[in-house]
Amino acid sequence: MLTDFATLRAREFARLDDNGQAYLDYTGSALYPASAVRRHLALLERRVFGNPHSHHAPSEASTAVIDAARQAVLEYLDADPAVYTVVFTANASAAVKVVAEAFPFGPECGLVLTSDNHNSVNGIREFARRAGAPVRYVPLDDHLQCPTALEVLGSAQPRRGLFAFPAQSNFSGVRHPLTWVAEARARGYQVLLDAAAFVPTCRLSLREVEPDFVALSIYKVAGYPTGVGALVVKSIALAALHRPWFGGGSVDFVSVRHNRVKRRPGADGFEDGTPDFLAMSAVPFGLQFVCDLGWNNVRDHVGRCRSDLVARLQALAHHNGRPVVRIYGPSETTAAGVGGTVAFNVLGPDAVVLPYGVVEARAAAAGVALRGGCFCNPGAAEAAFGWPADRSGRCLDATADDFTPARFSQCLGDEWAVGALRASVGVATNTRDIDRAVEVIRTFAR
Ligand SMILES: Cc1ncc(COP(=O)(O)O)c(C=O)c1O
Repeated sequence: MLTDFATLRAREFARLDDNGQAYLDYTGSALYPASAVRRHLALLERRVFGNPHSHHAPSEASTAVIDAARQAVLEYLDADPAVYTVVFTANASAAVKVVAEAFPFGPECGLVLTSDNHNSVNGIREFARRAGAPVRYVPLDDHLQCPTALEVLGSAQPRRGLFAFPAQSNFSGVRHPLTWVAEARARGYQVLLDAAAFVPTCRLSLREVEPDFVALSIYKVAGYPTGVGALVVKSIALAALHRPWFGGGSVDFVSVRHNRVKRRPGADGFEDGTPDFLAMSAVPFGLQFVCDLGWNNVRDHVGRCRSDLVARLQALAHHNGRPVVRIYGPSETTAAGVGGTVAFNVLGPDAVVLPYGVVEARAAAAGVALRGGCFCNPGAAEAAFGWPADRSGRCLDATADDFTPARFSQCLGDEWAVGALRASVGVATNTRDIDRAVEVIRTFAR
């Protein structure tokens, strides 16, 4: 069934227009549908929830909603519960860290990761290096894709370890090939798929693609609740992790006198402390909302919005005919392998990049929510901006402890961008939002 996105906007996201906001930061966070919040409120008003680690009816009620949330996450990813388990975390970053700190890295068990990765995935290298593991990055080309990924996986030594990549870039929107999962596994790697930017608008079936680890944040998918992320993990891969510590709730017993610990099996052994059980009780409402829209409808809507935005930004020109906007990554308006994200900079008539902060501030003043900076993805930023490696290295050394983007930019020279703008579209985006964003950028052409 077709979804009428205009009706959806009026019904679920009317607060956008009530507040005069053109929201284009869906890669930052999805927006919560009003109905999911109402359904959650009704549940909270009706039921009594207590600490799930106690043993009484309110505690059992909490355990039941946590189980339902686990089930909802597995269903959202079309995951076989006999194969996959859900470890709940605070967010996608914490889900990645569960793997990073417990993966058996060592001289014979390395890390390969794409240069296009969120810092929460880049951070795995710290654990890997501390364990003496070789770390290799797959480089990006000018289109912010990784054509040599399989070559690097085939040549990296040792041929064992972890391969980590994002299903969709939070910088450029590029969707990296999910076929890498099977290819990497066939080459002896376990795979961590960062699905945080992908699963909000694209179906991922863990029966078709079988990574060992998948990380995501619920608020990026459904806007609500915040504070809940998930590591969706093959039970067999979870059992092979070695946690460096334990916390309350993740152990069957600890003896202080006898220096013993027995960790809880499965996901419980990785979930420290009291879970955010009230937030978790909202997970099925948000995920159900997204599923009910229909994957093809979401794909078509987001694709149309992105194409429209890219075409209109590309059409902006200065009086001398030079473009106003430089887009990073695949710039074709209908790029199939790209999600609803556009990273760009605004150029002056002399083709010099304007500081992103100036554009971001003008947009914010006009009620247009864009994201500015490097979006926690330094590898994609370095490749997009084309900084000469020797020069950027020298400037990092020179700014060192006093690093700020402004000081770094001053050192690098104003022909190089340091930071960009990111516009990202989602299920609530309409043509008026795109008009407003384009109007802000057009003011730089005057
Ligand atoms: C691709 C990707 N991975 C990981 C993260 C980290 O997510 P969180 O901040 O929810 O932990 C983000 C957040 O923007 C992201 O876009």
